[in-house]
Amino acid sequence: MKIGVLISGRGSNLAALIGACAEPGFRGRIAVVISNRPGAEGLKVAEAAGIPTQVIDHKNFASRETFDAELDRALREAGVELICNAGFMRILSDGFVDKWRNRQLNIHPSLLPAFKGLHVHQRAIEAGVKITGCTVHFVRPEMDEGPIVAQAAVPVLSGDTPETLAARVLEAEHKLYPMALKLVVEGRARVVGEQVTLMEADGTEAAPLFVPAI
Ligand code: GAR
Repeated sequence: MKIGVLISGRGSNLAALIGACAEPGFRGRIAVVISNRPGAEGLKVAEAAGIPTQVIDHKNFASRETFDAELDRALREAGVELICNAGFMRILSDGFVDKWRNRQLNIHPSLLPAFKGLHVHQRAIEAGVKITGCTVHFVRPEMDEGPIVAQAAVPVLSGDTPETLAARVLEAEHKLYPMALKLVVEGRARVVGEQVTLMEADGTEAAPLFVPAI
């Protein structure tokens, strides 16, 4: 399965996905990495791995729809069958999301549906939650919503700052996203009525993928 990864920044999740695709027998490969920000560090991560990159700078487009149309064109030109958002910090139009329905994954650094949006770790600390985590889900038009493929739990420790908590959650993200991607490329994550059912390789139903606290 040809994968297109969308980034806006550092690209550490991209690096984790590159690592996953390099595993023997992995049934997906990254055909293109696209950034909406020209200087994104993640572009270097892709280049170092020999993966074609493209910059589609949203500032050059008059509307969300025209940016999304160019993004869609570039992904199709690269033969992409599945999109992975990896720190892609732009809201996509409903039209784009509908075209890629159940073929676009996102990772978010909280246990959705809690703490959608920005400043997630600061808000988790302020709320006094004891466990947070990360979620891989299929993308829907509403921000940080969609059928959940997998989640990982991460403890919030006393004295945590948004930075220390972000670093602990990021470690979990790097484990979770490759595991979730593997299930999707193997056709073992089926969306049934806005919920994901995981299947074993033999076609029987598998237990939900929940990675306990690290
Ligand atoms: C990650 O923590 C990812 O979960 C988050 O941005 C970071 C990107 O880091 N994404 C979101 O908040 C999306 N709503 P990375 O560029 O090093 O992968």
